[in-house]
Amino acid sequence: MSSPMEVSLENGSEVTDLSKPEGVSGRPAPLPPPISAADDKVLVSVEVCLKPSSTARAEDARAAVERMLEKRSMTYVDGPIPVPADDSFFVENVKRILVCDTDEWVENHKVLLFWQVRPVVHVYQLNEEGPGEEPSGDDMLSSFNEWVLPAREFDGLWESLIYETGLKQRLLRYAASALLFTERGVDPCLVSWNRIILLHGPPGTGKTSLCKALAQKLSIRLKSRYSWCQLVEVNAHSLFSKWFSESGKLVAKLFQKIQEMVEEENNLVFVLIDEVESLAAARQAAVSGSEPSDSIRVVNALLTQMDRLKSWPNVIILTTSNITTAIDIAFVDRADIKAYVGPPTLEARYEILRSCLQELLRAGIVTYPQDQVHFQLLNYSTLKETLHPSEPTELEGPLHLSRILLEAAKACEGSSGRALRKLPFLAHAALSNPHACDPRRFLYTLTETARRELAELNA
Ligand SMILES: Nc1ncnc2c1ncn2[C@@H]1O[C@H](COP(=O)(O)OP(=O)(O)OP(=O)(O)O)[C@@H](O)[C@H]1O
Ligand SMILES: [Mg+2]
Repeated sequence: MSSPMEVSLENGSEVTDLSKPEGVSGRPAPLPPPISAADDKVLVSVEVCLKPSSTARAEDARAAVERMLEKRSMTYVDGPIPVPADDSFFVENVKRILVCDTDEWVENHKVLLFWQVRPVVHVYQLNEEGPGEEPSGDDMLSSFNEWVLPAREFDGLWESLIYETGLKQRLLRYAASALLFTERGVDPCLVSWNRIILLHGPPGTGKTSLCKALAQKLSIRLKSRYSWCQLVEVNAHSLFSKWFSESGKLVAKLFQKIQEMVEEENNLVFVLIDEVESLAAARQAAVSGSEPSDSIRVVNALLTQMDRLKSWPNVIILTTSNITTAIDIAFVDRADIKAYVGPPTLEARYEILRSCLQELLRAGIVTYPQDQVHFQLLNYSTLKETLHPSEPTELEGPLHLSRILLEAAKACEGSSGRALRKLPFLAHAALSNPHACDPRRFLYTLTETARRELAELNA
């Protein structure tokens, strides 16, 4: 296991307060060294989301949360901490307090007690505006979308994506290290790295969502270094699908705009180029003569622009692809981190379905058994540790239901994350009496539906 001390490498930036005196030549002070774990404590990120109506200063909120955490003798696990209801500052300003990044630690050491932890508090407020769009002209498609981060639209996205332990943390650390290297002026001729990430894998495994969630997460974690964060989603299809003669202009216009954003050094800019294989395909088609040769110029222009962007320290380029082998080699070479995002494992499938069922229980679409107060289904690791499967359990109890859920998750082998998130809806529609829906019956229908869907897929 990599040390959990690294988990909050990006947290090192938290100590940089932009209100503090600036470094020479009016530049913001550089990042301080990452917090050393001299006291052997584990750095755990605690994210504090302020209410949209709050006007509290981030420093005040941070101090209040730090004081509150000091007073509590709590165990640190990923998830929300109740906002103190008896404190008017919290009630007025704080929407949610979330503990993050403990999963690797918890997996290996089981518990993380308050005295082992140094909480690193990140305060943020969501941007309530939706995406800004730039129409690309006659064809009515827009060539890009733009968000100010952290955006309400991506709230909770990171937490909703479930992968094997480590994937999300690895991406987070990678991006943080890349920014740190640039910030410290490491000579790229001696140590080479860049800020391009490629996520590849089969359709529906959450690649696009993960890119957006990563940008959102970094915008929260690096708030004190970069006061302004933006995500630009380039629509590769609309750039290349239609008018190649227009594409050159669109690319130039787009990168001109991105250039303006990155020139401001307190801006952190994420550029998401989804489904990059469409660029490569355009180039290959041009080479083989089946597309106008304009397209090759456009793709080359885009690659050149990306190279130019790389020299800016405050840009991260996020790309996705359904295929890796067929992607233009020129492109793949540019990416530093190439992470394969595969179909969900049994544990991930269980956890995705558990979150779906818990949501349907919350919404009252699936009803709690009559004699049960609201309960939580067991998480995967707890379920694995519980009694031997042959031991009798209460039929409507959480343990029994969790076991049926596990069977459902097993039946879904081969499903993508996207298919799993749709499954509860399809199962509900398949119920003979959707108005009286107990969890047990629902789960049986869900398993049947999953089997049917998979059979159709493989037919
Ligand atoms: N591992 C996962 N955990 C939770 N949800 C997932 C997972 N994988 C996919 N999903 C859900 O599936 C939906 C589709 O994800 P997304 O569009 O990001 O996939 P993608 O890999 O980009 O697909 P495509 O290759 O078709 O573009 C999202 O709503 C996401 O929440
Ligand atoms: Mg996608």
